[in-house]
Amino acid sequence: MKNKSIFSGNYPQTRMRRNRMKNFSNKLISENNLNIHDLIYPIFITEGKNISDSISSMPGVFRFSIDCLLQLLEDVVNLGIPAIALFPCIEKQYKDSDGSEAINSNNLVCRAVKLIKKEFPDLGLICDVALDPYTNHGHDGILINDVVDNDKTVDILCKQALVQAEAGCDIIAPSDMMDGRVAAIRNYLDENNFIDTQIMSYAAKYASSFYGPFRNAVGSNNSKKTIDKSSYQMNPANSNEAIREVELDISEGADMVIIKPGMPYLDIIYRVKSECNIPVFAYQVSGEYAMITYAAKNQCINKQDAMLESIIAFKRAGADGVLSYFALEVAKIISINK
Ligand code: PBG
Repeated sequence: MKNKSIFSGNYPQTRMRRNRMKNFSNKLISENNLNIHDLIYPIFITEGKNISDSISSMPGVFRFSIDCLLQLLEDVVNLGIPAIALFPCIEKQYKDSDGSEAINSNNLVCRAVKLIKKEFPDLGLICDVALDPYTNHGHDGILINDVVDNDKTVDILCKQALVQAEAGCDIIAPSDMMDGRVAAIRNYLDENNFIDTQIMSYAAKYASSFYGPFRNAVGSNNSKKTIDKSSYQMNPANSNEAIREVELDISEGADMVIIKPGMPYLDIIYRVKSECNIPVFAYQVSGEYAMITYAAKNQCINKQDAMLESIIAFKRAGADGVLSYFALEVAKIISINK
């Protein structure tokens, strides 16, 4: 006779481990699965020819000149990754306090978009709308007395969205966190007959330290001091406020929303998925990429396992898809294991 008193419930009739014993069974009972079509690949671009510049804060990530990018996209498209997000590293001489290069219809992003669309017409193209790669101070908008001016910034963001749409961008992704920008961009695009250009808004974007490596990658952190974006990005302590932000963006015409960063904000992804009716995407940001990569480099964790675990966690939390610098590596693993 077993001593029942030290066990609880229906043990030993119910053994949770039974389903886990065999690989086939684990597959059958899997509640979430990773698909290549869940992935969005963020890519940094730079001027020049034949350039793939490594980024010290993000080992394994490069800034590509457009010709190299087109080569890389062969793989991306062949693997079936549905979309990429472009981030430009703008040369210093084109930066000013108003980020005016952002509305140059022949800027780096617009040129890249045109060429990519020609070569890969079915690949989804996502372009960021925000001024930080273009301003010499690194803020996402125009500064008036050292504060980012909301309405003046929204005016220029609308124009930035339009030049990108005209170049052929499929999805406009405002990452600036200005108030009212989704409605303003939607109206502006519609007035200019871009009624089918989608808007994927960074609806709940937190003022996070995990963006550090990205700012290094696009060169928006020229001073040693960390740029404080807390007057427009959200306080990491808040959750209800994220729901308000998402609801506002939905009411203003967003087609999809992004929660950013990813892993520290799984609760926000879960809430948005359950409370708001809109496709939701997680952005596994540069600092998250760097943490996993550096920990693996130091033999603290297994890179492949950690990478796959981090991505499935987003899906379990409710994300419809994930923006990740691991997208290409993950897609290769998925396609090999098919
Ligand atoms: C800028 C922007 C940022 C990221 C995407 N768009 C940085 C920021 O807000 O400072 C971060 C992405 C990452 O860290 O991977 N509008």
